[in-house]
Amino acid sequence: MRRSRLAAIAATVAVLAPVAWFWQHSLLPDSYSATEMGYPDWGGGHAGAHGAGIPLDRLTAPADRPADVSMTMVARRQSFDLAPGMRVDGYTFNGRSPGPEIRARQGQLVEVRLVNESVPEGVTLHWHGVDVPNAADGVAGVTQDAVPPGESFAYRFVATRAGTYWYHSHQLSHEQVRQGLFGALVISEAPDVVALVHVYNGHRTVNGLPGAVPVTATGTTRVRVINTDNGPMAVWTGAPYRLVAIDGGEVHGAAVVTGQAVTVTAGGRADLEVEVGAAPVRVELGGSAALVLTPSGDLGQPVPKPGRVLDPLHYGTPATLGFDPDTATRRFEYAIGRRPGLLDGMPGMWWTINGHQFPDVPMFMVSEGDVVRMRVSNGSGEVHPMHLHGHRAVVLSRNGEPASGSPWWVDSLNVEDGETYELAFVADNPGIWMDHCHNLPHAAEGLVTHLMYAGVTSPYRISAGNHPE
Ligand code: C2O
Ligand code: CU
Repeated sequence: MRRSRLAAIAATVAVLAPVAWFWQHSLLPDSYSATEMGYPDWGGGHAGAHGAGIPLDRLTAPADRPADVSMTMVARRQSFDLAPGMRVDGYTFNGRSPGPEIRARQGQLVEVRLVNESVPEGVTLHWHGVDVPNAADGVAGVTQDAVPPGESFAYRFVATRAGTYWYHSHQLSHEQVRQGLFGALVISEAPDVVALVHVYNGHRTVNGLPGAVPVTATGTTRVRVINTDNGPMAVWTGAPYRLVAIDGGEVHGAAVVTGQAVTVTAGGRADLEVEVGAAPVRVELGGSAALVLTPSGDLGQPVPKPGRVLDPLHYGTPATLGFDPDTATRRFEYAIGRRPGLLDGMPGMWWTINGHQFPDVPMFMVSEGDVVRMRVSNGSGEVHPMHLHGHRAVVLSRNGEPASGSPWWVDSLNVEDGETYELAFVADNPGIWMDHCHNLPHAAEGLVTHLMYAGVTSPYRISAGNHPE
């Protein structure tokens, strides 16, 4: 009797002790520095000083240069109406969602003062696709503390590249972006049309309006499509068009195409140029919303989705990159998988990077001036829109097939299950940069790591109040 009870206890301990250990081991500390996350991966290059060096809040735009464009953004927790009867309980910038469109010319210094009036969890601004100085990157707990109610934060950056970008909160981003804290950022003086697409409570909208949204336009018109949602979106039109830019980068030698859809990944952008004559041109956005370029106000008829998809791997004509990927000084793998386990004590199917689960993931270590190659592969069963902060990368190949068209520059890349992309970029913007999935719930589930310049430190910590994902 006694012996069998002891045996039962021993058996229970034998089963539970490892479980308890794994559970304990999976718990995230109450607060930690992103720089201490995981393990350094030097990508085959030389190991530099990890840590002690320059604090990232010194990596700023020139302090003595006056701003060319300056504005204030006030964040609020509030309800707003998309259309009569379509109320969203969410967040606004300057009283509306999407927030105001920010426009600047290439080379101008942009200064935005973020004021948190009433977002209880705090708020930040991240400039998606813009290679800002690290101190202005807006990642709560990595490049700043989330701005609590009643406080403010100033962002300053030079708009070095023309193109289509957007901004969003990077505090609790999987909730705050979905519920309204985002807007368009366009670096261009051209009078063109923005199609900022977002799903609020199951309603797909363009520029905050549901359904088919008319815009007065005639002649050659550039439509800047921005996907602020968590999944890829097909974009098409019945008219011939040219895909003139991807993620803010101009396509070289963009030819006219017909009968093909463009895939805009989550967080990604695509600029389509069309000719508008007397008849309306409908730019279909995923099939449940459309921007209608119309001289007359006529909305036209919905255009059925074409069966073919434009492949940027072979679109346009080659041009120089400005660097040679064959001189790479670092080579990284970013292999995405999934497996059962515990994350912060929670059992589930969790994402892995190179077989490691958050936060025990590789920290991609570089030095300024490195030419970096990164192979991103996905064996996780789902598509992932992979987004690197602070840099743009060029696609070299997909599944071993070399790119043959225009340089295909991306900051957000749709990586389907089973796909492998080879990317290259120059490490020319010191700091600590998130490299994560822009399906934001996936990021919140741990599909996040960082690119870190040796010697850069962060005075901020991920904690109860700083939750970047
Ligand atoms: Cu658009 Cu890390 O984000
Ligand atoms: Cu993902």
